Amino acid sequence: MNTALAWPAEAIWEAVAPRLPGFTVEVLPELDSTNSELMRRARAGQADPVLLVAERQMAGRGRLGRAWQAEPGASLTFSLGLPLAPADWSGLSLAVGVAVAESLDSRIGLKWPNDLWVDGRKLGGILVETAGMGGGGSAGAARYTVIGIGLNLAPRASEGLSTPPAALRDLWPDARAGEVLLRLAPPLVDAVLDFQASGFEPFRTRYEARDLLRGRAVNLSDGTAGTALGVSGQGGLLVHTATGVTTVTSAEVSVRPA
Ligand code: BTN
Repeated sequence: MNTALAWPAEAIWEAVAPRLPGFTVEVLPELDSTNSELMRRARAGQADPVLLVAERQMAGRGRLGRAWQAEPGASLTFSLGLPLAPADWSGLSLAVGVAVAESLDSRIGLKWPNDLWVDGRKLGGILVETAGMGGGGSAGAARYTVIGIGLNLAPRASEGLSTPPAALRDLWPDARAGEVLLRLAPPLVDAVLDFQASGFEPFRTRYEARDLLRGRAVNLSDGTAGTALGVSGQGGLLVHTATGVTTVTSAEVSVRPA
């Protein structure tokens, strides 16, 4: 490690390694994107479980091709990479959202599919990507899975955003990146392993407890409008529209409260 901030890498390793053999924690002062780095490594054949933290990301990526802006010290940006072979991948990013929200604060809600919100503003986001591991793409084959998480710790500039972002220090004035990571990494790993074993269904009621869209009018980026009814057993968003109940599963669709 060669960084300016204090990171409890050893404590994280001690908490996670018994559940994830071969696990390592890596903190780098600067990267383009922790997701991009782990995806590059996976494509080059590196498939060990790792928690990769960047103090500064030069080209952080969000969902739907958006950029993820984060200031060093004012945000926590990291990715968990590990091989996974669930029977059904649907709902993984929602399960991750549940684990992150539950590990941090009861006031954090979830906006489908996996945005973390506080007081009507976005606190953080999750970007899940996978790479093949030479299993030929057969059903049930393990894929290297990169779960990237960005959390605002301190308020940041909001130019270009329709709603100014929230920050964890709105909830905990002394929140520090290392402590936040130590708090959320072990439950995150547990949740991902539980998801691998049992899928999204065990997370569904926990998701519902934090679902910010349920009962609200929503507009989808594909032009559909309706009322959100909650999530399906596979993590799809159920929307009551003029033509009946539809299930939105595509990660390419964005949803806005109307
Ligand atoms: C979103 O809300 O659109 C998802 C944001 C995900 C951002 C995190 S920061 C760490 C990891 N590396 C990235 O480039 N993106 C994710």
